[in-house]
Amino acid sequence: MRTVEHTRQGEAAQVLTLREEPRRPAPGPGPGPGEVLVRLLVRPVHPGDLVGVEGMPGQPEQESEQQSAARIPGVEGMGVVESVGTGVHAPRPGQRVAVFPAPGTWSDFVVVPAALAVPVPDGVSDETAALMLVNPLTLRMLYRALEDALRGRTGPVLQTAAGSSVGRLVSAAADRHGLELINLVRSTSGAGKVRTLHPSQPVIATCDDDWQGQVRRHAGARGVQVVLDSVGGAMTLELSGLLADGGTLVSYGQLGSGTTPLEALPLVARGLTVRGVSILHWMSRTAEERAQDVAFAQDLARSTPDLLQVAGSYDLADFKAAVEHARRPGKSGTVLLTTPLTADSGQGAAR
Ligand SMILES: NC(=O)c1ccc[n+]([C@@H]2O[C@H](COP(=O)([O-])OP(=O)(O)OC[C@H]3O[C@@H](n4cnc5c(N)ncnc54)[C@H](OP(=O)(O)O)[C@@H]3O)[C@@H](O)[C@H]2O)c1
Repeated sequence: MRTVEHTRQGEAAQVLTLREEPRRPAPGPGPGPGEVLVRLLVRPVHPGDLVGVEGMPGQPEQESEQQSAARIPGVEGMGVVESVGTGVHAPRPGQRVAVFPAPGTWSDFVVVPAALAVPVPDGVSDETAALMLVNPLTLRMLYRALEDALRGRTGPVLQTAAGSSVGRLVSAAADRHGLELINLVRSTSGAGKVRTLHPSQPVIATCDDDWQGQVRRHAGARGVQVVLDSVGGAMTLELSGLLADGGTLVSYGQLGSGTTPLEALPLVARGLTVRGVSILHWMSRTAEERAQDVAFAQDLARSTPDLLQVAGSYDLADFKAAVEHARRPGKSGTVLLTTPLTADSGQGAAR
């Protein structure tokens, strides 16, 4: 049994370590009532996982419940149900499942409530299944925030980091729903990639001196109604300047550097709204909404697996190389950490 863990926040390459134990699964209690033990095969390296390891710039280090307790990164993954606790009728041992929210997926095993182990549809690969939940569910949350902010209007909407995995889902949804979307990326080569995928959508590179002028020309007299932003930092001020009066900045990530003080934003004078969206709040949505979101994610994985692109795969023990790749500029898709399905895998995979 292998586990990647850390006992303090800091540069991932320095604070993360691999713990190997001869026994499997984890020593200690198995799945309790209503829980399942999942033998994980694939899990992603999301930017948010690295924030959990390294902390947010400018924020105090998160205190763990027990100072010396090791924390295991990862909130999503896919694998095979190894065993189930009392009262669990589904999923069954041997079934392939995707799990979220499942804190600690950078390990060979994780225990989750049975309700959070989502069956992987037939025909969906393990790699696609490992990416089936977090980003598609984030798309659903962003889309709800977008609809609230537009209040029946049509756009235009501006998104940053359009070449990111989430950005590509937003662009595909815009094509599907006829949403007027303007894409921002940071490089000319990144702009070329997004243009190839979505030829009908404008793409602007922020390395161009007049990128803000280009956005204004595309937005026209109405101005940008909503910004979907995962860059933040110093760019927040420039993005708010592109919004029409009464517009909304939806913030859902912090890829960029620098800061913008709240006082610098023309919130009062121009009636702007700033709204945060986080997948960490998905569990507080109603059970019906969550069921719809999961059905959407399963359908997306089945029908358009190309939208859940894999940038590269690494064995769990090669987590340092995986983290380096996840940070590499110009990558397309998400980096995965894998565990081979070995002969001692218990119930094994029904694949
Ligand atoms: N709020 C939530 O619940 C939630 C959920 C999922 C993701 N997110 C956030 O969404 C963002 C994208 O996640 P992802 O998994 O889609 O990322 P990803 O696939 O790893 O892609 C990262 C993208 O960000 C771009 N980028 C990196 N640093 C940048 C910077 N300083 N300025 C502009 N662009 C930059 C990269 O551009 P290049 O191609 O030029 O390198 C790349 O296109 C992250 O901030 C993540 O934390 C938030």
